Amino acid sequence: MTDLLESPTHALLAADPDWWRQAAVYQIYPRSFADSDGDGIGDLRGITEKVPYLSSLGIDAVWLSPFYPSALADGGYDVDDYRDVDPKLGTLADFDEMVEALHGAGIRLIVDIVPNHTSDRHEWFREALASPKGSPARARYIFRDGKGENGELPPSDWVSTFGGPAWEPVGDGQWYMHYFAKEQPDLDWTNQEVRDDFLKTLRFWSDRGADGFRVDVAHGCAKDLPEELPSQAELDALERTSGTHPLWDRDEVHEIYAEWRNVFNEYDPPRVGVAEAWVDPERRSRYASAEGLGQAFNFDLLEADFEPQQFREIIAFNLAEAAGAGSSTTWVFSNHDVVRHATRYALPPRGEDTKKAGNAWLLSGGTDPVADVEGGLRRARAATLVMLALPGSAYVYQGEELGLPEVADIPDEARQDPTFFRSPGVDKGRDGCRVPMPWTTSGDSYGFGPAGAHLPQPAVYGELSVEAQEGVAGSTLEFYRTALRLRHELQTDETLDWIESDPHVLHFRRPGGWHVVTNFGTEPVALPAGELLHSSGPVEGGALPGETTVWLRSAE
Ligand code: BGC
Repeated sequence: MTDLLESPTHALLAADPDWWRQAAVYQIYPRSFADSDGDGIGDLRGITEKVPYLSSLGIDAVWLSPFYPSALADGGYDVDDYRDVDPKLGTLADFDEMVEALHGAGIRLIVDIVPNHTSDRHEWFREALASPKGSPARARYIFRDGKGENGELPPSDWVSTFGGPAWEPVGDGQWYMHYFAKEQPDLDWTNQEVRDDFLKTLRFWSDRGADGFRVDVAHGCAKDLPEELPSQAELDALERTSGTHPLWDRDEVHEIYAEWRNVFNEYDPPRVGVAEAWVDPERRSRYASAEGLGQAFNFDLLEADFEPQQFREIIAFNLAEAAGAGSSTTWVFSNHDVVRHATRYALPPRGEDTKKAGNAWLLSGGTDPVADVEGGLRRARAATLVMLALPGSAYVYQGEELGLPEVADIPDEARQDPTFFRSPGVDKGRDGCRVPMPWTTSGDSYGFGPAGAHLPQPAVYGELSVEAQEGVAGSTLEFYRTALRLRHELQTDETLDWIESDPHVLHFRRPGGWHVVTNFGTEPVALPAGELLHSSGPVEGGALPGETTVWLRSAE
């Protein structure tokens, strides 16, 4: 087992078991971050080369989306081998070097783990296909006999999360289940071999220096499929809040994470998990308990409108929930699955089904309704300055520190996301937030790599590049850097007090006289007294302009 403290380069990383509670975590989607070897795909060496940049941001940790061998049918969330590096992205030695560089810069590493499904190229799945019905190899997955005389019909009419059927035939009357793309067969987590193998994987990466794990679809692993399967309509009618839904958020899923916790606790400091669990907010804390993964994503602000009452309720609720679970909450506005928040806030409020509506807007390429690009970025910066002042950990997705917009007009033939192909074409998919990072103002791929970018970058990427913003006062990059640096200095305990204010204004105080004030309205309001530490936009003459957040220090 690797002890980080044994290595002098890791001296910056104290063995603090609570490092994650208030961490600012930067998500890297490796294929789209930096390409060091010129194959058009970002890689681990690219990340290592950018460690000085990461360090200059003032983040505490990196969350690395999957970098395992994969056909990239779902951007790497289709894993062929959980204990290796995709040759397109590098080698295990490159991984070790990257960890060394990150740790040397005082940055921890959270790796993504994908337990709900393997890829269809995983050796277990190949073995399952080559083995007969009822064999131990098939028992690692969810195989069922098809209906009809020769099993030619699917076992049920279930629809996969990415669209299209959730069952795929294998040619002998049996079908396998997949929540996501057909290249992502679901594992059967009642199978002991499956359970044991993941414990091995957790130790494998922990031994190599991973400090934590982001757990993909954490609420989906436990399933209980009756002999007679319900229809999709019957499934849809079932409530998901009792822990007894056959597919989602079942109570026994926590038995899996209790085993994982035992592995996490073999390390010093203990490894940490953060669950991606799209569950009822009241049930989220189970994933975040100290006997489980430790932390869970809360996507509530991401789904909210730019509106003070929604923000306040969400913040208050999640702080209370996390405290009840002995955890700290997580905040996030953008990631590799959703429309970037600079663009979400450039569009009219979304109503109920935020995520889908966000994508639907992009069907028009942002022309109907017309995206208010300037206003979107202004609101995104104001919201970000709220997030970075909240107790708990804050997740920043690569490129948001540049104010990158969602790329809405990717030609169909260049699209990669399975949601686009399986919908088919109705959902534009998630490629628009996965376009390779612009590092320089010009050049084929704006400095992403010598062989161009694997998704087309719009012209605006040059003026939004790191090079264009570096050292420029008021740029979004420098705005993030200042906020992250100040957050380090100001963030002490996990308390927050509300201060009653104008109905358009959200105002809270953190310890040390740190005041956070956002004017969600469009008209200026009086700026509260105090030393101006930071602001999301220009502030002059004692007024707080509309759609602007300030950080103030005041004795009260
Ligand atoms: C990941 C997605 C992925 C899906 C299936 C998610 O929640 O964040 O990117 O497509 O899991 O693995």
